[in-house]
Amino acid sequence: MSQDKPMDPIFVTRTFLPPRAEYDAWLDKVYASHVLTNNGPVHRELEETLRQRFDVPHLRLMTNGTLALQLAIRALGVKGEVITTPFSYVATTSALLWEGCEPVFVDIDPTTCCIDPTLIEAAITRDTTAILATHVYGIPCDVEAIDVIAKKHGLKVIYDAAHAFDVEYKGKSILCYGDASTLSFHATKLFHTVEGGAVILHDAETDHRLRLLRSFGHIGDAHYTLGVNAKMSEVHAAMGMAVLPHVQECIRQRKELDGIYRSQLADLPVRLLPTCSETLHNYAYFPIFFGDGAVRGAVQEKLEEAGIFSRRYFYPSLNELPYVASAPLVVSERAADTAMSLPFYPDLPAHVPGTIARIIREVTAEHTSIARS
Ligand SMILES: Cc1ncc(COP(=O)(O)O)c(C=O)c1O
Repeated sequence: MSQDKPMDPIFVTRTFLPPRAEYDAWLDKVYASHVLTNNGPVHRELEETLRQRFDVPHLRLMTNGTLALQLAIRALGVKGEVITTPFSYVATTSALLWEGCEPVFVDIDPTTCCIDPTLIEAAITRDTTAILATHVYGIPCDVEAIDVIAKKHGLKVIYDAAHAFDVEYKGKSILCYGDASTLSFHATKLFHTVEGGAVILHDAETDHRLRLLRSFGHIGDAHYTLGVNAKMSEVHAAMGMAVLPHVQECIRQRKELDGIYRSQLADLPVRLLPTCSETLHNYAYFPIFFGDGAVRGAVQEKLEEAGIFSRRYFYPSLNELPYVASAPLVVSERAADTAMSLPFYPDLPAHVPGTIARIIREVTAEHTSIARS
């Protein structure tokens, strides 16, 4: 190999692809059935396999995690004001707006970056019908505190669990909490179907509504309600079946990489996510938080010069989107200004954590000496 071959760029993630023969075996089943969509056999198998994996009563596959959110909101009859987190991917907020709801943002807990439950009650009005919170980076929200508030005020709870595949809290899947949870199976996620998602529900009636909403609102010739097309195809479900047996090994490798990053960054002025003793983590992301946004920007620039592309997960703070109205939220805005997700995937080249640590050390030292002079 040539000595001066430039290094391939390192991106924040690299999609796991199952061995080709394993995907082909699932595609062979699709070819054999000649059914490509509309609740085909592979779709049904993936749906039931995931339902059993999480031990939840109802799980429905969707075209993507955004439609999963939209249809969960609609199936639960959520309307009016919805208390929600400003620190998430934009789809959490856009799904509410798309469904005609008004997002009411409350700030986040600075340690977990999830919605701060102590701020929720003050934001409840006569028009509030639900809470939509994200287990951001796969860190569980304070589900017990949220449950108490929701019960007291008669609110529905939806968790955007797009980052929380296989996360467990107190010995059971995090998807067991709330009235609904949604997953994204986008190619950037720990478990993926190329594009895809799912809604998890806990009662049969809402599940029936959700299935109608997912499939044009009709069964055969009987039309019941306004619906959309949010069905997952057999080819996407086949990718899911091929990826699924590898997920736990991916998590094991990610846990190892998490340990490597934590030791490389141990003496540097960056804040890391907490690990919680009652949580079985999935190591979906490795975000770090700097002292201020200028340092975060300078580090990102230097990393890019070295061919390493981090991402601003999550930016902007969603209360600052140009199409929403909200008061400032200092904790979330600060997190969005200072957060950066590092490249994080099982076959990350071994030198990358060390290179990143060196660059962070250099940039932060430079900024500290500028601040002192
Ligand atoms: C928190 C969160 N919610 C929702 C989504 C939307 O999922 P999808 O891309 O599958 O539509 C994503 C990611 O992409 C996400 O990170």
